[in-house]
Amino acid sequence: MDVVVISGGSGFVGSHLVDAVVARGFRAVVIDNLLTGNPRNLAQWDGDDRVLVYHQDCAHPPALELPVRYVLHFASPASPADYLRYPLETLAAGADGTRGMLELARRHGARFLLASTSEVYGDPLVHPQVETYYGNVNPIGPRSVYDEAKRFAESVTMAYHRALGVNTGIVRLFNTYGPRMRLNDGRAIPNFVYQALTGQPLTLYGDGSMTRSFCYVSDTVEGVLRLAMSEIHDPVNIGNPGEYTILELAQRVRAATGSASPLVYAPAMQDDPKVRRPDIARARDLLDWGPTIPLDQGLAWTIAAFKADLA
Ligand SMILES: NC(=O)c1ccc[n+]([C@@H]2O[C@H](COP(=O)([O-])OP(=O)(O)OC[C@H]3O[C@@H](n4cnc5c(N)ncnc54)[C@H](O)[C@@H]3O)[C@@H](O)[C@H]2O)c1
Repeated sequence: MDVVVISGGSGFVGSHLVDAVVARGFRAVVIDNLLTGNPRNLAQWDGDDRVLVYHQDCAHPPALELPVRYVLHFASPASPADYLRYPLETLAAGADGTRGMLELARRHGARFLLASTSEVYGDPLVHPQVETYYGNVNPIGPRSVYDEAKRFAESVTMAYHRALGVNTGIVRLFNTYGPRMRLNDGRAIPNFVYQALTGQPLTLYGDGSMTRSFCYVSDTVEGVLRLAMSEIHDPVNIGNPGEYTILELAQRVRAATGSASPLVYAPAMQDDPKVRRPDIARARDLLDWGPTIPLDQGLAWTIAAFKADLA
């Protein structure tokens, strides 16, 4: 059985990738140090030898005597609350972690896919964001630990491809949401849903006019796997081009949960992007991929999962 190695496989997106690759007939090897992950995300695979889990840093992966076909590098704190709490670990995941996983792919002659991010575009001056845009990142701001780590990760990935001939790909993920996000993870959707379900005020950072685009996790996973199984080396955006202000999102969460929680405003975080929306023409052309789950449907599934977690 061919193997897919997934760093960060105990996290939110990574654990859904594990489920998806096993459903497609692969064996999954997870490398996760549990910095922001949760072993419960993979509890459904306990005792099943199609999923092998190593709780360790992906900078130094184990030697695997297995037929590794794909290496999906998803290990990194991803929520702003997490990467501001773990700045040095975030830089290390992007730098040392990416090299560790690239070396693993090189040893096995496997295809490598980097989970990059829309944050490489920073506070964008081009809207919607197209892959050819170089971005607008403050290299010394607090968010730079994530943004620059991912930009370095893209750079080292392209260097392994160009200099060492490793078969690499780069997916630039835009905001993804769904079950298995941590209730207190700090990102907009889990924050609002948690606050609405527990009768707390919904906190908006800034004046609520900032925009974001939200992709349901099953759509993201489908796009990631299509790119992983392609031969494309250039970055590809995967995200949902539907664009909502943070105020609209809060109102939708309130309506979907039946909550009467008030909205409260807090200062915006430094360098928080004012707009965010993917141009997905490349994903449509090259992967025949586009999102299929409307926001209200995805929110309903996410709210149901959060209710179960709270119970
Ligand atoms: N979820 C999104 O909206 C989004 C958007 C853009 C990019 N991404 C990228 O997708 C990936 C997964 O994001 P997520 O939302 O699932 O985050 P997450 O925090 O839920 O998962 C990240 C996982 O990586 C693990 N990890 C961190 N550092 C590690 C290290 N050095 N070695 C081994 N494991 C390590 C954590 O324990 C966790 O299980 C990240 O690389 C993130 O940058 C996610």
